[in-house]
Amino acid sequence: MGFFSSLFGNSSQKETKSMTNEKLNIGIILGSTREGRVSPQVGEWVKGIADKRGDANYEIVDIADYNLPFLGTGTGQEPGIQSWNEKLASLDGFVFIVQEYNHSITGALKNALDLAREVWNNKAAGFVSYGSTGGARAVEHLRGICGELLIADVRVHPTLSLFTDFENMSTFKPAELHLDNVNAMLEQVIAWSGALKTLR
Ligand SMILES: Cc1cc2nc3c(=O)[nH]c(=O)nc-3n(C[C@H](O)[C@H](O)[C@H](O)COP(=O)(O)O)c2cc1C
Repeated sequence: MGFFSSLFGNSSQKETKSMTNEKLNIGIILGSTREGRVSPQVGEWVKGIADKRGDANYEIVDIADYNLPFLGTGTGQEPGIQSWNEKLASLDGFVFIVQEYNHSITGALKNALDLAREVWNNKAAGFVSYGSTGGARAVEHLRGICGELLIADVRVHPTLSLFTDFENMSTFKPAELHLDNVNAMLEQVIAWSGALKTLR
C-alpha cells in the first residue's frame, strides 16, 4: 500500500460522493507560515466577504496549525500529515491565499501541496494573492501545480498590491475595488466545486 493510500485508502473522497443539498465546504488556505506573516489578515478579510454570501461553509485552513514535516524527512506517518489530509478530504473547494516569494509560491505551501494527493483531486480553487506585482507570478506557478493535482482553478483572480493595499507592507487596508473581484472569484469556485462533486 502506497504512502497516500495507506493514509486514506481509495475511499477518502467517496464519502462525499452522494449529491445532497448540503452546503459546500470551502477552505481558505493560508499559504505562508513565517513569523510576522500578513496572510491571516488577508484570509480573514476573504472569509468576511465569503460568509456574507451564505452560499457555503467557509473556514480558514492554516498550514501552520498542522506541524507538517518537510516531505521525505520523517516517517510519512506523522499525525500532522494525517490531519492535513483529513482536513482536505472534508473540503469541496479551496481559496488559496497566495503570497509571492522569489517569483513563486512559498516553500511551505508547496510542501503542503505535495503532502496530499487524492484529496486534492476533482475540486475547484480560486486565488487571492499579494506581492509587489499582486502576487501574479506566484499564482501562475500555482496554476501549473493545480493541473497536476486535478484541481480546477478558476479564472477570476483578485491581486493585492503590497504598496497600495497594505500600510507599511504589513497592515492590510484593501482598496474597495477588490470586493467585486473576490465575489466574482467565489462565484466561480462555488459553481465548479458543486459541479465537480458529481465526479467524486
Ligand atoms: C523569501 C521572500 C521572498 C520574497 N520574494 C518576493 C518576490 O519575488 N516578489 C514579491 O512581490 N514579493 C516578494 N517578497 C515579499 C512578500 O510578498 C511579502 O513579504 C509578503 O508580505 C509575504 O507574505 P507573508 O507576510 O504572508 O509571509 C518576498 C518575501 C520573502 C520573505
